[in-house]
Amino acid sequence: GKSEKDSGKQVTWCLMFCVSTAVIGSLQFGYNTGVINAPDEKVQNFIRNVTQERSGEPMDKSTLTTVWSVTVSIFNVGGMIGSLTVGTLVDKLGRRKCMLLSNILALIGGGLMGLSSMCTSYELIIVGRLVIGAFCGLCTGLTPMYVGEIAPTALRGAFGTLHQLGVVIGILIAQILGLELLLGSQYLWPLLLALTVVPAVLQCVMLIFCPESPRYLLITLNQEEEARQVLTRLRGHSDVEDDIHEMKEEALKMSMEKKVSIPELFRNSAYRQPIIIAIILQLSQQLSGINAVIYYSTKIFRYAGITEAVYATIGVGAVNTLFTVISLFLVERAGRRTLHMVGLAGMTVCALLMTISLELLVSLGLIQGTSAISVLAILAVFGFVASFEMGPGPIPWFIVAELFAQGPRPAAIAVAGCCNWTASFLVGLLFPKLLDLCQAYVFIIFLVLLIIFFMFTYFRVPETKGRTFEDIASGFSNAAGSNAANYTSPEANL
Ligand code: GLC
Repeated sequence: GKSEKDSGKQVTWCLMFCVSTAVIGSLQFGYNTGVINAPDEKVQNFIRNVTQERSGEPMDKSTLTTVWSVTVSIFNVGGMIGSLTVGTLVDKLGRRKCMLLSNILALIGGGLMGLSSMCTSYELIIVGRLVIGAFCGLCTGLTPMYVGEIAPTALRGAFGTLHQLGVVIGILIAQILGLELLLGSQYLWPLLLALTVVPAVLQCVMLIFCPESPRYLLITLNQEEEARQVLTRLRGHSDVEDDIHEMKEEALKMSMEKKVSIPELFRNSAYRQPIIIAIILQLSQQLSGINAVIYYSTKIFRYAGITEAVYATIGVGAVNTLFTVISLFLVERAGRRTLHMVGLAGMTVCALLMTISLELLVSLGLIQGTSAISVLAILAVFGFVASFEMGPGPIPWFIVAELFAQGPRPAAIAVAGCCNWTASFLVGLLFPKLLDLCQAYVFIIFLVLLIIFFMFTYFRVPETKGRTFEDIASGFSNAAGSNAANYTSPEANL
């Protein structure tokens, strides 16, 4: 039997400090995701004026729309690049140094965007968004990886959810600071875009005091003594033999395998199943349609006839944050698989309610009685976001680190992250066109996808709560070896 101390439920100051430092990366990802929406009209005006000044003629509307959508979506292209390179970088440099160096990108990207107005160049915003995107792509790999590797097994889900909490707080801060009366004004928007350099500097300072991941030290570098010292600091007592023992077993297994490259993940039957699960979970996060709401909620609310649409959008950010906190407390009790399914089911119902209420609003016009339907539309959007944060928001980000042991983990995080960024790129690009095309029925597309992802989770995703990395990984290789997928529940056999 394991004592309370061995099961490692206690949280030390050192652990809290390290996790807080890493989560600044999540905050950066959220902030830069949300920041571009509020000042969109001001930045578009700026782009138009710059061309006017240069050529004497203002930019025509369709060119402006193109330049603007490039400005918005090049962030995701950067993210695809950053997330894909993270695997190689973390193994070469270590987790800590990689986080430190990634901040250089934040300084460059933030700096370029901040100087754009002074230099009368909108090109600087575009390049800045690309660089910031690459930075955020690194963050979405680095934070969950470092946090997953230093967290005690029993609290890995709760700590993993802190990444998503950082993201949603970042989005909320961007929504609030983006208000016209704060930094979203005609003159201050460059400051709003450049503000990302502040947390970057803060994280660099805090990283000086953070140790390297003990798993990287022991398993990747084979430095047992250093790993023991770090673990002692993180756990607050020197009885760290269980952790060391578990890592050594992992190291032994790893030394028998070659270093795992990205193609290897798909070739080796022991990794194929977890990588497919990891990828589909990322797709379930993005193709649920969440960013259609995060990016375009103001537009949707206006469509629903709500006058104070900007404040309703801040309401979205607040609900988003609240439910991530709730998930934080549930994830070690209810488990990942259950919460993910509850979230997807809730989103399905709300997508249906959104469709019905939006369609009613359009067909009834803004005649008497529509205000109740407007309220229904707002509640459906809030419910959609709330359900998302129960599972599909936080879980895909941290479960990849859980599904793989030390060897394949960096490559798996790179592949999963890149799929996530590619999917969000597509949603950002296609949603406005789909909205024009399908009108109120646009959410039916997501509804169908949500049902498919629900079924996949039910039949294929194992529970990882409270299990060691080693145990989870061997569950997959046994299943691959014996061809019996019965590692979770009887349904998995179907
Ligand atoms: C997740 C998604 C991100 C989305 C956010 C919303 O972190 O990865 O794309 O904007 O949740 O809360």
